[in-house]
Amino acid sequence: MEKRSRQKKGVGDIGNSASGYNLAKEDITYLTYAAETLRNLEAPGLLLVTQGKRGRPNIMTIGWACLGSLWGRPCLVVLVRPSRYSYRLLEESGEFTVNVLPRNLAEVAAYCGSVSGREQDKFAARALTAMPARQVRPPVVGECVIHYECRVIHYNDSRATTMPPNIVQLAYPDGDRHRLYYGEILAVYADPDASGRL
Ligand SMILES: Cc1cc2nc3c(=O)[nH]c(=O)nc-3n(C[C@H](O)[C@H](O)[C@H](O)COP(=O)(O)O)c2cc1C
Repeated sequence: MEKRSRQKKGVGDIGNSASGYNLAKEDITYLTYAAETLRNLEAPGLLLVTQGKRGRPNIMTIGWACLGSLWGRPCLVVLVRPSRYSYRLLEESGEFTVNVLPRNLAEVAAYCGSVSGREQDKFAARALTAMPARQVRPPVVGECVIHYECRVIHYNDSRATTMPPNIVQLAYPDGDRHRLYYGEILAVYADPDASGRL
C-alpha cells in the first residue's frame, strides 16, 4: 500500500516530495553545468538511477557518457554493460536519471560502482534520499546537486567488428559489451548553490 502511493507521487508530481527537496531545486538548461558534469564523469563518476516496473530504485556509478544534442533534442547517452543489474532495470523501464555528487560525497561514487543492487539497497546503505523525479519514474538522488531526467529514445550495442581491435581488447576482453542508451533529457535542475559544492 505504502509502495503504491509512493509510486504515484514519483511520476511528474513536482513539489509533492515529502522532503520538499524538489521544490528547492532550480530549473536550468542542459548546458548550464555541462562542463562540471563532464568533469565529474571523469572523477568521481556520475550516479545513474534506474527502476524497474516494480521494486526499489538502484544507483550505479557511470564513468562513460555523452552529453549533447541529437535529432534536435538534448540527450545524455549512457553506456551500460549487460552484466549490471541496472541494465535489467533500464530494459524494463526505458527511463533513468543522472545525478552529480557534491565533492563532500565523492566516496558514494566508489561505493555505488563496486556493489550491485542485486545484493544491496544502495540508497539505504548510504542513507541517500530517493527523491521523486518530475518527468520519469526513477527518482533522483536528493543529496546530489545537479539532476538530469531522461527517457530512452534509441539504443544500440557496441560491436567488436566496428571498432579498433585495441579498444576491443582493452574494454571488452570478456565480451560484456556496453549497450548505449540515448536518453532524451526531459528535465534538468540543480541546487541554487551547486557551483560552490562541486
Ligand atoms: C568510477 C566508475 C565508473 C563506472 N562506469 C561504468 C559505466 O560507465 N558503465 C558500466 O556499465 N559500468 C560502470 N562502472 C561499474 C558499475 O558501476 C558497477 O559494476 C556497479 O556495481 C553496477 O551496479 P549494479 O549491478 O547495481 O547495476 C563504473 C564503476 C566505477 C567505480
